Amino acid sequence: MFTNPNRSTKTFKFYTNQEIPAVGLGTWQSTEEEAYNAVLSALKAGYRHIDTAAAYGNEDIVGRAIKDSGIPRKDIFITTKLWCTDHTRPKQALQESLKKLGTEYVDLYLMHWPVPLNPNGNDPKFPTLPNGNRDILHDWDFIKTYAGLQELLDTGLTKSIGVSNFSKKNLQKLLEAPSTKVKPVVNQIEAHPLLPQFNLFNFCKENGIIIEAYSPLGSTNSPILTNETVVELAKKYGVQPATILISWAVWRGTVVLPKSVTPSRIESNFETVSLSDEDGEKLNKISEKGTSRLINPNWSPIEVFDEND
Ligand code: A2P
Repeated sequence: MFTNPNRSTKTFKFYTNQEIPAVGLGTWQSTEEEAYNAVLSALKAGYRHIDTAAAYGNEDIVGRAIKDSGIPRKDIFITTKLWCTDHTRPKQALQESLKKLGTEYVDLYLMHWPVPLNPNGNDPKFPTLPNGNRDILHDWDFIKTYAGLQELLDTGLTKSIGVSNFSKKNLQKLLEAPSTKVKPVVNQIEAHPLLPQFNLFNFCKENGIIIEAYSPLGSTNSPILTNETVVELAKKYGVQPATILISWAVWRGTVVLPKSVTPSRIESNFETVSLSDEDGEKLNKISEKGTSRLINPNWSPIEVFDEND
């Protein structure tokens, strides 16, 4: 009754017309060796989209795997991200990332979090104050950071810029800022049927900003892979629960970044089925019983997430 899952060669288009492969490999929480093998397996399986970040500490390994794959650089969509302690120096940070990745440009550069942290604090990644709170830069904000990202577009070091972990409120604030001349092409957020973020999703859609879904499978020890509706649809389509979640993300028009370090899963995660609208809506309804945010670092006193999203 249903067609077999197909290798996902689908792409979405940014409002700038640049294309992005709908399914990309997420590399967060991978050790160096895992990341190397995962990227090689993914490229072999047909992925042409790899998502990394300075904060993942694996850009050099990811870059090496891309080189070793023998696939021309121009055929691969690479995203990396600006870390919080680098908000006042995006150009230098991107240059350092490019050096590690061994490439002259990335396809997409994202502000990882809307939180500028002290670059001279007690830790290079997560500086804290004596009271344990994050050491936040109070004379800076994400609007200034974004203005710095915009300048990178003229350097050729990145083709596009975007944001990550932006709530609707923060995105509105960014879009309304006089210094914002170029809209972000994407907002990369946690998104899965237990956290569909419909309000944020609709706001991004209205503004021509593509959502990229991270932790689409519900991250480690996922509660979603065993969700009744997901399992039922997996049986119906004759695929794994993970395939249903990835296919749902694509069905609703989001880029999706499943992470795996297991070659067989990397391969199967690249295969999607064409969900019927009725089944897509069934998955949309899962969150009616309650939502669950799985990635929720404490950025106090800065408000990052908005539960109305
Ligand atoms: P592993 O990396 O050991 O293969 P997310 O993309 O939501 O962050 O989820 C990543 C988690 O889901 C990892 O623990 C990963 O395990 C696991 N995972 C990835 N693909 C699948 C799959 N097809 N089936 C079950 N679990 C998966």
